[in-house]
Amino acid sequence: MKKAKRTPIEARAAEIADVEGLTRLYTYRNAYAQTLQLPFQSTEIWRKRLMTNDETQHTLVAIVSGELVGNLGLTRLVRPRRAHVGEIGMAVRDDWQGKGVGSALMRSAIDLADNWLGLRRLELRVHADNARAIALYRKFGFEVEGTHRAYALRDGVYVDSLSMARLIEGPRIISASRKANAHPGVQVHKI
Ligand SMILES: CC(C)(COP(=O)(O)OP(=O)(O)OC[C@H]1O[C@@H](n2cnc3c(N)ncnc32)[C@H](O)[C@@H]1OP(=O)(O)O)[C@@H](O)C(=O)NCCC(=O)NCCS
Repeated sequence: MKKAKRTPIEARAAEIADVEGLTRLYTYRNAYAQTLQLPFQSTEIWRKRLMTNDETQHTLVAIVSGELVGNLGLTRLVRPRRAHVGEIGMAVRDDWQGKGVGSALMRSAIDLADNWLGLRRLELRVHADNARAIALYRKFGFEVEGTHRAYALRDGVYVDSLSMARLIEGPRIISASRKANAHPGVQVHKI
């Protein structure tokens, strides 16, 4: 049997031109209800967020067939003793959930965090009943660390939230060998 062709999902940095797509994404009920966004947000809010993004904030978007269908924000914490930590928040448009968009965004964010920013700990909070999100985070190595009771107001009720985090060891150090008889080229040290 012929395999169904998969639509490619592109993850890239958000641009100012994405304000309409980002605003639209968070008009979908599940996308705003399961995050900490509000209904009825104007495009100005997203424009301001994108304009004030600095080097600690990485806003990724997922594009399928030219349409913005997902968003992930990775923020590096600025306090010196928390500088190894990144916080993640994300959402996929309701009509695109369960189709691999969240996984594509998370894969890109983890590559950025592990291999380019050198972060050792990624953390996030998720509503305790959000099974799909929790499954996605577990798939990428996040573990539950605790429960925040009555953490956020969602559709008229206060709901619990879980803290989840993913820890990794530091990057390897690759240095030129000084020993005469050492393996030529480079040496890899684990720290
Ligand atoms: C949570 C969310 C980001 C996940 O993104 P997604 O594109 O829907 O997820 P994926 O299709 O990549 O699926 C990821 C994993 O979730 C699991 N999953 C999918 N649908 C599920 C469901 N209905 N119930 C439980 N787990 C499910 C699967 O294990 C899947 O892994 P697999 O592809 O190896 O089978 C997305 O559904 C979403 O935006 N939901 C609304 C907003 C939200 O919850 N944001 C997160 C706030 S913390």
